[in-house]
Amino acid sequence: LITMAIAFVFAYLYGSVNLSVVISKFFYGKDIRQYGSKGSGTTNTIRVLGFHWGIVVFLFDFSKVLIPYFIVTLLGFQVDPGLMAVGAVIGQCYPIFMKFRGGKGVASTGAFLLFYHIPYALVGIGIFMLVLRLSKMVSLSSLLAILGVTVLSALLQEWNLTIAMTILLLITYIRHYANIKRIFKGEESKVSIFD
Ligand code: G3P
Repeated sequence: LITMAIAFVFAYLYGSVNLSVVISKFFYGKDIRQYGSKGSGTTNTIRVLGFHWGIVVFLFDFSKVLIPYFIVTLLGFQVDPGLMAVGAVIGQCYPIFMKFRGGKGVASTGAFLLFYHIPYALVGIGIFMLVLRLSKMVSLSSLLAILGVTVLSALLQEWNLTIAMTILLLITYIRHYANIKRIFKGEESKVSIFD
């Protein structure tokens, strides 16, 4: 239990490093959380700072489950990647270093699935692409992809994954509260890649 707690805290601390906030403050003298959707993830980084920084932020957020899990495993401890994912995503969304105002947890959740549950990741990516093609809303695509994967894991009775995904789903949905309101009002911003 102590190992699990230490691993979880480590994942949380690593996840708390919000690179988009660091980049926006260091290179542009502004806080990305005050611009665009006020998010600090890939989508808003592309929107506010440009595609290249979006890629950098995406890769870093993507590493948030992997690096802590890799280090903990390297040190000889055995932990559930799902536990590390929950720690990393809580860090991403409620970072201790950034007044607990962080991102929305999508890239970190995606990385968790891609590296530890590939078939589920493929289903999630499929839903994401389909919804993005139809709606052009990154937020709606993320929300439905995470929902789809969670439901699928329950249907297939992969309970460890279902528990982790249910927690990740709750966190990401809470963090997308403003997006969800905008989606229902028809005011959510759309991406133009399919125009
Ligand atoms: O990655 C978060 C995405 O689902 C929505 O981002 O910036 O449009 O709120 P944003």
